[in-house]
Amino acid sequence: MIHARLAPLCGVTDYVFRELCFAQGCEAACTEMVSAMGYLCAPQQRATQELMIRGKEERRLTLQLFGRDPDTVAEAAARMETLGRYDGIDLNMGCPARKIAPSGEGCGLMRTPDVAEAMMRKTVRAVSLPVSVKMRLGWDRDHLNAVELARRAQDAGIQEVTVHGRTREQQYSGEADWEAIARVAESVSIPVWGNGDIWNGCLARARVESCGVAGVVIGRGAMGNPWIFREITQLNQGLKPAQVTLAERFQMIETHYTRMLSWKPEPIAVREMRKHIGWYLHGLRGAARARAEINHARTPEEALRILKQLREEAEQQDHVS
Ligand SMILES: Cc1cc2nc3c(=O)[nH]c(=O)nc-3n(C[C@H](O)[C@H](O)[C@H](O)COP(=O)(O)O)c2cc1C
Repeated sequence: MIHARLAPLCGVTDYVFRELCFAQGCEAACTEMVSAMGYLCAPQQRATQELMIRGKEERRLTLQLFGRDPDTVAEAAARMETLGRYDGIDLNMGCPARKIAPSGEGCGLMRTPDVAEAMMRKTVRAVSLPVSVKMRLGWDRDHLNAVELARRAQDAGIQEVTVHGRTREQQYSGEADWEAIARVAESVSIPVWGNGDIWNGCLARARVESCGVAGVVIGRGAMGNPWIFREITQLNQGLKPAQVTLAERFQMIETHYTRMLSWKPEPIAVREMRKHIGWYLHGLRGAARARAEINHARTPEEALRILKQLREEAEQQDHVS
């Protein structure tokens, strides 16, 4: 059985997109990372509130916090818990961003394992929800301490760990090292979820079968492709995964657009949908031109008209070939 979850991707996996993934069979998801300090200082701030939404169709949702100070993170977790909205709290120890990691947040915590451990212990003590951690393999190739941190996590009462098989130094380059993920999975008894470069259902199956992980956590492989969760569901049912049809792609874009419009003001929805549409169209003939036009479209009607034209051209080509 392949268990698959959606990874947090800030700027991508908002509740609208997560719901689309759940509809395709995703088992669980995580919010985009929320600043513990930001939440404590301004809990009603609109951007934070948007990150914290739980959609009605989200079966299982964990709230992800980032921060550097263990007490601040634990306090934010405790306040989040009182909302009664989430199934767990996840601590971000993997973010490599320049504004985050060098100041000791995100992956920066892997350089200060004592602080990371204190954060885990305090958060576990502060909430009754399960607490999990998402980390990388280490800061760089000379400091690979995921095994050590996973052991500390287990001792601190953390329920699950997700390991992205890269270092902070690698950012998103190279390939995720699944042998290193397997070594983490081997070294603790709590579930370890593997993350990195799962682009389709077959890869998910291969990693689960060979790496001893509890399941896979899928990030970029789901961008423009929520059907990756359908593929995995079909593999679990012993079926050959169905190809995504043109009709399904365009229907998904329309549904995504409509839901985004019912959530955000039109100009923001139009802007945010551009990137998603780009990913949905990936690989289609004529997509580059359509993307360029859509990037200039100012209204949903304009964008949808361009898409309709692309769809008609693509259907004609399908018909001819
Ligand atoms: C645009 C983007 C935003 C991300 N945001 C987050 C985040 O908010 N929290 C987090 O733990 N990881 C975040 N990540 C890392 C992903 O969750 C994941 O670990 C990484 O992309 C590797 O998995 P993949 O190869 O399946 O994409 C982000 C990655 C990307 C590309």
